[in-house]
Amino acid sequence: MIQIAFSTAKSRRAAARQVCGLMLPGGVGTAAHPQAAPRTGGAVASAAAGATEAGLEVLRAGGNAADAAVATALALAVVRPRAGNLGGGGFAVTRFGDEVRTLDFRETAPAEATHDMYLDEQGEPRPGASLIGPLAAGVPGSPSGLYELHRELGRLPWAEVVAPAIRLARVGFTVDRRLANGTREYAELLGRFPETAAVWLPGGRSPEAGSRMRLPELAATLEAYAERGAQAITEGPIAAAVELAARRHGGILRAADLAAYRPVWREPVRFEAFGWQVASMPLPSSGGIILGQTCGMLERLEWAKFSRFGADRFHLLVETWRRAYADRVLLGDPRTSGASAAQLLAGEWLDFRADRIRLAKATPSDRVRKWSSEVASESPETTHLSVMDGDGNAVSITTTLNGAFGCGLLVPGAGFLLNNEMDDFATAPGQPNYYGLIQGEANSVGAGKRMLSSMTPTIAWRGREVIVIGSPGGSKIPTATAQVLLNLIVDGDELQAAVDRARVHHQWMPDVVFAEANALSPETAKALERRGHELRPVSGVGEVHSVRVEIGGEMRAAQDPRGPGTVGIVNPAVD
Ligand code: GLY
Repeated sequence: MIQIAFSTAKSRRAAARQVCGLMLPGGVGTAAHPQAAPRTGGAVASAAAGATEAGLEVLRAGGNAADAAVATALALAVVRPRAGNLGGGGFAVTRFGDEVRTLDFRETAPAEATHDMYLDEQGEPRPGASLIGPLAAGVPGSPSGLYELHRELGRLPWAEVVAPAIRLARVGFTVDRRLANGTREYAELLGRFPETAAVWLPGGRSPEAGSRMRLPELAATLEAYAERGAQAITEGPIAAAVELAARRHGGILRAADLAAYRPVWREPVRFEAFGWQVASMPLPSSGGIILGQTCGMLERLEWAKFSRFGADRFHLLVETWRRAYADRVLLGDPRTSGASAAQLLAGEWLDFRADRIRLAKATPSDRVRKWSSEVASESPETTHLSVMDGDGNAVSITTTLNGAFGCGLLVPGAGFLLNNEMDDFATAPGQPNYYGLIQGEANSVGAGKRMLSSMTPTIAWRGREVIVIGSPGGSKIPTATAQVLLNLIVDGDELQAAVDRARVHHQWMPDVVFAEANALSPETAKALERRGHELRPVSGVGEVHSVRVEIGGEMRAAQDPRGPGTVGIVNPAVD
């Protein structure tokens, strides 16, 4: 734990804006910024040691939270290829001074996408079509999104922020056990495409833990990105390589789709919960809405007054999620969504939902809304990072290829994998997707639409305390994030204890409470079953990466024991 001296955030932010203002619109900050950047320190939590170190390196060089978050995200694209990406998309929630914003760099459906593109002549889903190969790929949002995040909020020159990722790809990095296991587990997917196998299954085998990995094509892409910004990827030879790879394997992704892609700054979902201000991701993510509905219903049900590990609390948590995930069916791209955050977080609606929750009895999910499905087994394919700088500026990014290693196709010459985010659309409305989520017509496939997400990058604050939080985990992202946040803001846990604590999950359909080992005592489990809940063990609910500070006090970062995530804190007085 390190003491961080906080200076006036506003003056630093003004300086950062001034520096960014020197860059040409759409241009590249290759020239060094005129003044030496101050050393401000900060904290980074991410899913891989090399990525956390990249963020810390940028903080040590005087970068702010946006610089460090982008450096961390780009390094994840190198050392954690199952989720870190240039070929996918994501969301960022930022808080600089008092200004809270969100950046949507979610993938979009290509221009040639159509409503029924994943159905056969009989109207049945074509197995694997929205998951494997480039037909499953949405238009990548990460290159423009990360570039825009830095352009708007960063302090260091762009090239300095990209440099750690270039070095990892060019000089190489040590393959850790999780990457070795991941490539072995997904060898069948990676082996389907010779372009991918040539890089990730060298000699026909997955790389061994402890071996050295160099990614020269990805390094060259990152070098071009550092020199010319997003346009180096969204236009010219790299975009042409994406189109060529997609065409070769029956995809509809075109260079024109990449050129047309734009990230969007959006107003956050904001709400007050248990005395804290919370800002999270709006549509096209359902995450902020689910988090807000959860907290809103729990406050109405006076959840905090119930015994912490007793059946009442778990029961009420599950009942709020059952309703929030049932409402999720209405959601989709903000332009076509069947409901808005304002509607679903309105006091009357939360009253209506909370009033129908009974303490003594579970509400069968088919009485909330009529559907049925099975949940897919899933692992945390998405990845999250939380960053704070010494001024208390905060960035929370969740980014994804959707499934592990996305659609499995690596773009030859460019060195990055393409996502399979199209499966997050309701490819066959009413039928479960990869995460077992049932989705509605509002989230059907349509050219240019953004597919509904569950990613929940979030920032919460109360007075001088700030928490940056989020998780991977598909449909379990909002419930993992909610539980850790509640541990912090309701029960006052220390950050690491809040992250460590065993978790549960419910997503309306299937009507099952998934419980990590030790989440429920035998008595609590029995009491829940007596109320009508079906319980099922699950190996993990998310993998939360979080940092927290009390401004003027200690900065902390927590590493989730469910994964190999790493954290680091830079003390300006020492580093
Ligand atoms: N691909 C997972 C999500 O966006 O929720």
